[in-house]
Amino acid sequence: MSEPLVLALPKGRVLDESIALFGQAGIDLSAIKDGSRRLSFDLPKAGLRVLVVRDADVPTYVDWGAAALGVAGRDVLDEHGRDLYEPLDLGIGRCRMVVAAPKAQRSNGRSEQARYGTKFPRITERWLAERGLIADVIKLSGSVELGPIVGLCDRIVDIVSTGETLRQQGLVEIETIFEVSAKLVVNRAAMKLRGAEIRDLVNRLGAVK
Ligand code: PRP
Repeated sequence: MSEPLVLALPKGRVLDESIALFGQAGIDLSAIKDGSRRLSFDLPKAGLRVLVVRDADVPTYVDWGAAALGVAGRDVLDEHGRDLYEPLDLGIGRCRMVVAAPKAQRSNGRSEQARYGTKFPRITERWLAERGLIADVIKLSGSVELGPIVGLCDRIVDIVSTGETLRQQGLVEIETIFEVSAKLVVNRAAMKLRGAEIRDLVNRLGAVK
């Protein structure tokens, strides 16, 4: 019997949507929600080994071939910057990458000197460069919306889903940088070595997404 295909899934909100989508495609991943602290699950019926990792790490696992496949949002893929094969937009994990700032600061003309707090420094640098803006970019790992409240930064670049986190911190959106959804990503070598199995999975998911 061949080795299982290794699939990296992101912890958090996209995990449930991934399990639901794979389930619709007849691939039962429900065993990974067993309430344990396990991070790796062998699912022989599905022919898969599932790794549950930080969302920002999915592209790294796939890039280095530790996973043949992964589910990753456009946000983490753009930030990762390496070229992975992206055969399918799964249409899950929809949100937006935005620039936001405190309500009061909206039009005080400070944008060119602003400090930006973000989990996405490459995306932020690119957005600034496209506008010819020079600014400091401060890398954070989470709770980014706190930055402007405590004077760490003037603005943030982050993903917004319901908008509730921004609202509760008194921040408003200034601009949408791009729309985000999660994609199936594939290691290029795995695509060559296990192409038939991977294409079968892509077709099954593509039929239900
Ligand atoms: C994400 C994002 C925002 C929040 C947006 O953070 O960075 O903080 O979700 O969601 P909302 O618009 O529905 O309020 P996450 O929950 O992943 O936690 P983190 O801050 O620890 O990264």
